[in-house]
Amino acid sequence: MSKTGNNKGNNENAASNTTGEGDNVNTALISFEQEMRNAPPGVQEQLRALLQQMDVNGAVSGSSGSGSGKEAKSMEDHKFWKTQPVVKHDEIVEVDGPIESDVPLDQVRAAPYPLPKEFEWSLVDVEDEKEIKELYELLTLNYVEDDDAMFRFNYSANFLKWALLPPGWKKSWHIGVRVTSNKKLVAFISGIPQNVRVHNTIKRMVDINFLCVHKKLRSKRLAPVLIKEVTRRTHLEGIFQAVYTAGVVLPKPVSTCRYFHRSLNPKKLVEVGFSRLARTTTMARLVKQYKLSAETTTPGLRPMEEKDVGAVTQLINKYLSHFELAPHFEEADVRHWLISRPGVVWGFVVENPETKDITDFFSFYSLPSTVINNPKHSTLNAAYSFYYAVQTPDEELDKITDEAERKIARDDAVKNRLMRLMQDALILARRNSFDVFNALNLMDNTLFTEDLKFGPGDGYLHFYLYNWRCTTIQSEKVGLVML
Ligand SMILES: CC(C)(COP(=O)(O)OP(=O)(O)OC[C@H]1O[C@@H](n2cnc3c(N)ncnc32)[C@H](O)[C@@H]1OP(=O)(O)O)[C@@H](O)C(=O)NCCC(=O)NCCS
Repeated sequence: MSKTGNNKGNNENAASNTTGEGDNVNTALISFEQEMRNAPPGVQEQLRALLQQMDVNGAVSGSSGSGSGKEAKSMEDHKFWKTQPVVKHDEIVEVDGPIESDVPLDQVRAAPYPLPKEFEWSLVDVEDEKEIKELYELLTLNYVEDDDAMFRFNYSANFLKWALLPPGWKKSWHIGVRVTSNKKLVAFISGIPQNVRVHNTIKRMVDINFLCVHKKLRSKRLAPVLIKEVTRRTHLEGIFQAVYTAGVVLPKPVSTCRYFHRSLNPKKLVEVGFSRLARTTTMARLVKQYKLSAETTTPGLRPMEEKDVGAVTQLINKYLSHFELAPHFEEADVRHWLISRPGVVWGFVVENPETKDITDFFSFYSLPSTVINNPKHSTLNAAYSFYYAVQTPDEELDKITDEAERKIARDDAVKNRLMRLMQDALILARRNSFDVFNALNLMDNTLFTEDLKFGPGDGYLHFYLYNWRCTTIQSEKVGLVML
């Protein structure tokens, strides 16, 4: 139940968009979204409801047909999800809160859910080299692909260790399924603990990821058993809410975000079919269009170190308080998630050269994809924007009484800082041999994506909460980034 995100850019050259109907729909959607942001609050709500409706019914789709609405089913057809404590597609939520009460420990089912007789449960020891390799191989060959089966996520083993062993991790939440006869690992689901704030409530939740069933075992209703088993095991630990993301529409997204892509290596992106060369341009022009300067420009920019953990924790929690769905970080989380790890994650801070204060930071992670059946390239190196934070002039903003004016002033202040930071992030990503830099339209990303030449892709990511009812959250109010 992680992301899809393994989706293609629509077109290299948005200005000469010639790729047909799907792109026109996307262009219309983007301008609709822009119009919506400029509309008065009441009208915004109505437009948003309309957009959400289109989304769920699959009317909004990208050029490859993989829009946010793919596989939308009626509630009745969700044989599994209709039995679960999740918000129904047609439900209007007015008050936030749990759908089901917490279950006392002595009432939590004690035995694992039964599996078909050829299979057995097997916890994966992520710290064991042999077992992490088995997990890596399962995912590399069977995890998320784009709709046209051109790319498949290829999370590295070191990435998986980083993702699955954060502070508070539990071995009982790294759940594998093996074939009883030969012990081959054929399915997996994982959870990690995370403090998540939804509107004004902070809850200890489990963040579910890496749900995968071997290609040969698909459509046999194994996924529901995995989901029920991880739920049982989180109940045993006294946790009753989960957060997860998926490219498919399930009941019911709390938010839907769109992927944006910034070419760093346009020639390779065209060669692997990630993007297309518009008829009106040439490769040389395209390369020039996306060329980046060699050096970063933010004064005081340097890799984040252990000594920055306290300052970054304060900075990020304050920045994330602006959003409606966001993690709440302890210092241990910041240390784990945001200090660079070779080949996995890059974290940078801005230290004011005079005061030595940490004023901003950003991070990105590496998630390559296997390029399926391409004669020239086997891997697409993608960097994904992770957490960042900038200081905002809160005292000045508080003096502005008009809400709309305050928003404009905040966005201006954030944009000023963020543009330069993200430009530097692109330069650093290019320096580290990434081919593309991906970002969702969450947090304040829309303040820089257009100016920094990101283009809309054909993938959407839906955010879900399990056993938590809450009102829909706009993408730019999402402050949670899932791996
Ligand atoms: C996702 C995956 C595990 C589903 O397994 P499957 O064999 O296709 O489906 P199953 O027959 O076991 O189960 C179908 C049920 O799982 C649900 N389901 C499918 N994908 C899901 C997802 N990503 N998250 C949660 N539930 C999902 C279906 O909606 C269906 O339930 P419903 O009848 O209530 O609608 C499998 O397709 C897979 O490994 N895909 C590649 C990796 C991937 O996409 N992982 C999910 C990342 S978000």
